[in-house]
Amino acid sequence: MGYAANQPEVSTFRPGQYAPSRTAATPWGSGILDVVTTTLITGASSGLGAEMARQFAALGHDLALVARRVDRLDGLQTELLAAHPGRRVEVRALDVTDPVAVRQVVHELNAAMGGLDRVIVNAGLGKGAPIGTGGDAANRETAQTNVLGALAQCESAMEVFRQRGQGHLVVISSVSAMRGMPKAMTTYAASKAFVAHLAEGIRAEVMGEPGLAIDVTTVYPGYIRSEMNDRVVQDTPLMVSTEEGVRAIVVAVEKRAHNALVPPWPWEPIGRALKVLPLQLVRRLG
Ligand SMILES: NC(=O)c1ccc[n+]([C@@H]2O[C@H](COP(=O)([O-])OP(=O)(O)OC[C@H]3O[C@@H](n4cnc5c(N)ncnc54)[C@H](OP(=O)(O)O)[C@@H]3O)[C@@H](O)[C@H]2O)c1
Repeated sequence: MGYAANQPEVSTFRPGQYAPSRTAATPWGSGILDVVTTTLITGASSGLGAEMARQFAALGHDLALVARRVDRLDGLQTELLAAHPGRRVEVRALDVTDPVAVRQVVHELNAAMGGLDRVIVNAGLGKGAPIGTGGDAANRETAQTNVLGALAQCESAMEVFRQRGQGHLVVISSVSAMRGMPKAMTTYAASKAFVAHLAEGIRAEVMGEPGLAIDVTTVYPGYIRSEMNDRVVQDTPLMVSTEEGVRAIVVAVEKRAHNALVPPWPWEPIGRALKVLPLQLVRRLG
């Protein structure tokens, strides 16, 4: 299938490639890791985005949080500022399917916060129906959000990073991107393969470019509890809590891994198996 080029790998942190603003102790080890100061998270009103905001705030990041449900963002801002006095948390309403608004909000937040160090392209939609069965509106909505929305976010993030000469672009793909998926997953899985290839292409573009220190991380979550899968995946033993799943995401992001399946167990071996499984077996997963 069309995903063979993007082999999952856990790459190592490359000290010195990027000049972070300061250092902080990490919760998962005794060492000191470099961290960036200002992180923009899209889709921060629920699920993985909101929990990433909580965990990155605990690591000492200033945060720019965007989504359409700004009331949720306001509540999260209040919670984060109460838990971490002294941190800066900016929130903005943003629909990522509006490319003009994406550009405006990303550049405005970059200016307001004195430079964005990291942008996490997380906003996503999981609606879908088998192709050709009348669910084209849901499939199109998912493609518009996950494909064109992600493209707009990457364009704006990379504009900012190119201006600054540095940055860390993180995209949230999915383990489902490893293969074409049947049923309601077809468009969603294809959209997540797009996001992963987009990120790899950007990495190929900037790697080794003189004067640019830009890292690109693609995260492939397995099943992590969130609003998206509340009603879809009910009782799989592979589902982990939002907190546990996001802890694995934060570790991978802080390591600046190129590609990370999260949580690594059992999703790294599942991801490897998915690439070679016969389609008759893959289709049962949809
Ligand atoms: N949870 C999992 O098991 C899992 C697995 C693989 C990949 N993922 C990916 O993880 C990311 C986060 O999803 P989640 O699981 O946390 O689901 P979620 O709780 O439903 O969160 C989705 C987020 O995306 C935002 N969003 C959706 N459409 C948007 C739009 N047009 N403009 C701006 N924001 C939009 C939503 O905010 P508003 O509605 O307020 O705008 C919400 O904050 C998604 O990209 C998803 O595909 C999740």
